[in-house]
Amino acid sequence: MTVPVLPTARLGTDGPFVGVQGLGCMGMSDFYGPTDRPEALATLDAALEAGVTLFDTADAYGFGRNEELIGPFVRANRDRMVLATKFAVERKEDDPSYRGIRNDPAYIRAAVDASLRRLGVDEIDLYYMHRRDPAVPLADSVGTMAELVRAGKVRRLGLSEVTGAELREAYAIHPIAALQSEWSVFARDVERTAVPAAAELGVAFVPYSPLGRGFLTGAFQAAEQLAADDVRRTQPRFTGANAAANAELLAPLREIATDRGVTLAQVALAWVHQRAEVHGLTVVPIPGTRKRSRLAENTAAATLRLTAEELARLEPVAGEVAGDRYPDMRFTQVGRE
Ligand SMILES: NC(=O)c1ccc[n+]([C@@H]2O[C@H](COP(=O)([O-])OP(=O)(O)OC[C@H]3O[C@@H](n4cnc5c(N)ncnc54)[C@H](OP(=O)(O)O)[C@@H]3O)[C@@H](O)[C@H]2O)c1
Repeated sequence: MTVPVLPTARLGTDGPFVGVQGLGCMGMSDFYGPTDRPEALATLDAALEAGVTLFDTADAYGFGRNEELIGPFVRANRDRMVLATKFAVERKEDDPSYRGIRNDPAYIRAAVDASLRRLGVDEIDLYYMHRRDPAVPLADSVGTMAELVRAGKVRRLGLSEVTGAELREAYAIHPIAALQSEWSVFARDVERTAVPAAAELGVAFVPYSPLGRGFLTGAFQAAEQLAADDVRRTQPRFTGANAAANAELLAPLREIATDRGVTLAQVALAWVHQRAEVHGLTVVPIPGTRKRSRLAENTAAATLRLTAEELARLEPVAGEVAGDRYPDMRFTQVGRE
């Protein structure tokens, strides 16, 4: 099958051009149940063939194993792809639900070296602060990240789940190429301050979980059917009465998908691309998949155009979603806005 090559978009004002959709690699090692490792590795190659060039991981995914998993692929294709990884989320293997947030300079310096070692590369193209610890001034955290740029360990900087004010403050310390936060038909809090600030500064927006962690694809049935260690079993939108109520909200996506002869996932991804046009900024969503079979479907969505009437039908959905997007919203920028 010939897969049309993706259009490209620029990460930040002087950053690299990447395929306008990236690939989230997290699920290949963590959070969403068992993975077929050979299929996951084949998905990386297939993504590159389809024009996907931004590959997203983090030191926290699989306790470092996600970086190790994609390392050989990264090294084999170093000049053809853009490598993004992250620090700041501290985890404990003997307590999988534990999450700490670390932004202190000593932690950052150790984290980058550990990521470089696991990935087996000399330089990270895009290094994100995964979460903000408000107790650490941005002058210290972003200032330390800027040191990593000067040391040649990192090419460009990114942030995740920060407010518009935090993005502006960070940008004044060092240019920020990308802001990665959750943005989808189901999750639009970023449109309040983060998206306008990114648009104003010329920061590319990298929407994570653009498929609502799979909910927007229509494939989710019930939390009880997920693997015992699937993190969605603990997420408010996927559990109890919220899950049933949220499933009802898929009706307009389903209708549009049927009318247009596309899938729900494609409608959800097309929405993110077109919503960015409204705000006047570059977006590079990173849908996560471990399967080659999803790639053509997901990349085709980047050029699907929804009509104004279809977009209007999707407009009220986010406001009706039951449950927060995380069990503890202090883990996001929302509490600091
Ligand atoms: N910065 C942050 O704090 C943060 C947080 C979460 C995620 N992320 C990043 O964002 C990436 C994407 O987010 P995500 O993985 O949480 O959620 P997502 O992209 O919204 O959804 C991923 C889920 O959808 C399924 N899926 C993908 N394409 C599909 C299709 N066409 N049809 C049906 N199901 C499909 C995947 O299953 P299969 O794998 O089985 O296809 C997976 O279960 C992650 O991989 C990670 O790199 C960042």
